[in-house]
Amino acid sequence: MKKHLVAPSVLACNFAHLEADFEMVNQSQADWYHVDIMDGRFVPNISFGMNIVKTMKKMAQKPLDVHLMILEPEKYIESFREAGADVITVHYEACPHLHRTLQQIKDTGAKAGVALNPHTDVSLLEPIIEEIDLVCLMSVNPGFGGQKFIYHTIPKIKKLKEIIITHNTSTLIEIDGGVGLQNAEKILQAGADVLVAGSSVFKSENPTKAIQQLKEIGNKIFHV
Ligand code: DX5
Ligand code: ZN
Repeated sequence: MKKHLVAPSVLACNFAHLEADFEMVNQSQADWYHVDIMDGRFVPNISFGMNIVKTMKKMAQKPLDVHLMILEPEKYIESFREAGADVITVHYEACPHLHRTLQQIKDTGAKAGVALNPHTDVSLLEPIIEEIDLVCLMSVNPGFGGQKFIYHTIPKIKKLKEIIITHNTSTLIEIDGGVGLQNAEKILQAGADVLVAGSSVFKSENPTKAIQQLKEIGNKIFHV
């Protein structure tokens, strides 16, 4: 039986009550924390750096999935690992030497992820798929939470799944941006393994229940 993971995106937390939000996620059915790092250069927004990640690590009882939306990520990989990252994802569009950068991530002991912007074709990853633990398909243009899901992501998931099956790797497919109950079933059916959810969790009336519902959608697909 296949189980998918749910990773609430902490970008949508209330930063004045970060501890309470982390406690909620700790007690919930969520699997990972998704942590968005933005540099104001690769994306038109700035979020936070490794000191905040270090603070989050102290509060989190689940792995930190760190999404680096930054230029020259190779300069900061060791620092984010030291801060507590369990998965480190770099952008394809920001890595001229992707193979080397993935090796660098793995050398720290973290899992290595590659994120693709909505316009980037998944076939570009075929020559390197064996090296990748996780592919993060952006289903919005990176930089902001609360945007609308881009439906062209669905055929991309299917195409990537075929590549993974052909090469017989255990690479996970993660979908990031605009994910919620309204589209989770379609995303999972297409072959996704990890759902990132920011607004649909933290801006809902009952975040614990929103996480639970995102988990249970999988039962509908995989158990019957
Ligand atoms: C977008 C970020 C996403 C974002 C998701 O640049 O990478 O992780 O926080 O937020 P929602 O779920 O609100 O689209
Ligand atoms: Zn993200």
